[in-house]
Amino acid sequence: MRRILVTSALPYANGQIHLGHLVEYIQTDIWVRYHKLLGRECYYFCADDTHGTPIMLRARKEGISPEELVAKMHENHLQDFHGFNIEFDNYYTTNSEENRLLSEEVYLNNKKAGHIEVDTVRQAYCDHDKMFLPDRFIRGTCPSCGAEDQYGDACEACSKTYSPLDLLSPACSICGEKPVEKDSEHYFFKLSDFEEFLKKWTHSGALQGEMANKLDEWFDSGLKNWDISRDGPYFGFEIPGAPGKYFYVWLDAPIGYMASTWNYCKRTGMDFNKFWKQDDYAEVYHFIGKDILYFHTLFWPATLKGAGFRTPTSVFAHGFLTVNGLKMSKSRGTFINADKYLEFLDPEYLRYYYASKLTSRVDDIDLSLDDFILKVNSDLVGKVVNLASRTSGFVFKRFAGKLCDVYPEDGGLHDKFVAAGEEISQLYETREFAKAMRAIMVLADDANRYVEEKAPWKQAKEQAEAPLQESCSVALNLFRTLMIYLQPVLPHMSEKAREFLDLPPFTWESRTEPLAGITIKKFSHLMGRVDPKKVAAMQEASRESLSPTPSAAQDKNSKSESKKADDSSSEISIDDFLKVDLRVAKIVAATSVEGADKLLQLTLDFGEEIGQRNVFAGIKAAYQNPEDLIGKLTVAVANLKPRKMKFGMSEGMVLAAGPGGSDLFLLSPDAGAKPGMKIK
Ligand code: MSP
Ligand code: ZN
Repeated sequence: MRRILVTSALPYANGQIHLGHLVEYIQTDIWVRYHKLLGRECYYFCADDTHGTPIMLRARKEGISPEELVAKMHENHLQDFHGFNIEFDNYYTTNSEENRLLSEEVYLNNKKAGHIEVDTVRQAYCDHDKMFLPDRFIRGTCPSCGAEDQYGDACEACSKTYSPLDLLSPACSICGEKPVEKDSEHYFFKLSDFEEFLKKWTHSGALQGEMANKLDEWFDSGLKNWDISRDGPYFGFEIPGAPGKYFYVWLDAPIGYMASTWNYCKRTGMDFNKFWKQDDYAEVYHFIGKDILYFHTLFWPATLKGAGFRTPTSVFAHGFLTVNGLKMSKSRGTFINADKYLEFLDPEYLRYYYASKLTSRVDDIDLSLDDFILKVNSDLVGKVVNLASRTSGFVFKRFAGKLCDVYPEDGGLHDKFVAAGEEISQLYETREFAKAMRAIMVLADDANRYVEEKAPWKQAKEQAEAPLQESCSVALNLFRTLMIYLQPVLPHMSEKAREFLDLPPFTWESRTEPLAGITIKKFSHLMGRVDPKKVAAMQEASRESLSPTPSAAQDKNSKSESKKADDSSSEISIDDFLKVDLRVAKIVAATSVEGADKLLQLTLDFGEEIGQRNVFAGIKAAYQNPEDLIGKLTVAVANLKPRKMKFGMSEGMVLAAGPGGSDLFLLSPDAGAKPGMKIK
């Protein structure tokens, strides 16, 4: 029998679970449940990813220890996962003794084998905070386009990437002081030692074809050694034999997969070493998002190999979630947290919808909220639930809940359903969930056609009893088989169906035996229709929760929110506020700027008193046709000190709302406002 170890990527402990994350956890959970339903020995391990600077700093800001923060988020994550019926065999933490020991082992084994080297790195350092600053914790003026308040790694206005030391007037984003440059010794993992091995591994069938191609690009541009150390203060594991140096979070994070396994094994008396040191004991699969491919397909197998552990059987990457065709956005109310969703909607709606979209490829998947409502209502409620709700009442009322003693003639439907299980199983196995859902719905259509033809509601009015009992027995039997096929996706509904049919736990095999002579219980409500009003309310509530929440920090989808969240605690006095001269301005000219991807050059008319001003604004992504802006009224800062930018002087600032990029909205006054009017 197959023995299968499955993981999902470990969510960062400083962010809340949102619908984007859930693409992955739901996809993995379906796959694990599928294997278990087939009776395979399958384990689903995960953990929180707890280390790193952002977590350390956030804990500091909340006035608690990193351990306390991590413990709080652990509960929070588990509750969300539980709410979506995601069932881990173990959900652990990277801040554990098991993970420390394993990280040390991986490191020391690699060191012994000569795969670690030490090199001096010149880095930005804050004398005030006494720490080296990661790129994301330095802000300054972009050396290329002059945009202010940019991160240390790349400019959001012109997209240029650079080193933080290149920023003009750089500032520590914790204390605001100017960082200095300082040398420090760093430990490097010699990835290039593994080029041969990795090339073989990536083409051994371990990766989806598209990913293997991506890796070839990386091989072509050369494998660089990987900096695996960080200087303290750092929330993480100190490197053995290197006081004050810590493992970079991405070294110990994937080792968390092993630590979670080990912790499970201790609890259950299984042998950890068999899982991770023996090649043929278990199959090992990692589900990940496409953004963390490099870590999982180069660093991870190489560090395992170098340390004498087994390497993964396969890594499965999925794409990113968009909502209504666009990146999740707080201003549109489409950045939806797991707990927010659960306040309004049934988790199994989303499980089904994702399943109906997921393929084995790395494509992004779209949650179109209108389509979500239509699909769930038409497939699950219209085709599946209906089958039972239209027939079970008759059985209950007319036959004391009893199905026919001998399964009746059904025109070959039962056999057809059983046979389709082969293909559906294969589709689950290969992670072609969308195709599996389609195949199941084709069967559901067959079953409904049967019910329409027999029309039990008409049969019920006739003298003869047998035809009614027969058609209902067939319908409920087919319904049962559909619920077996849907169980990996809809565990909760499937369980309720099993209870009402009063059957023992489903197995894939149990579908072959038709239901006969059994007595069912009273039909219980399985699933209601999606209420479009609730979907709208969920969106509205997500829009409202714009106030900086702890979840914002370090979230890939809220890069700019996290930037703003950092400032949330600094209050200003009314006097500070009154210093800002906000005025209505009319946009009288708007053009793209040659050589600047993100900037528009605006001429603002502030009325007679102030006159016209030239302003560069990073709003191009949101306003692709600048000429549409001409003639519009907006709100702008009139007394901003002019700044010299690469393309000229910027003499003001327009106000816009939203996270940034294409998701940005210029403010405009109500009708009647005139250029130059002061904002009060
Ligand atoms: N902590 C790292 C993973 C370490 S694994 C050893 C991390 N955490 S994360 O919280 O940012 O993301 C967890 C998983 O969710 C990743 O696989 C990531 O790709 C996935 N997703 C996060 N946002 C997503 C979407 N918007 N859409 C789809 N998947 C997304 O990365
Ligand atoms: Zn500082």
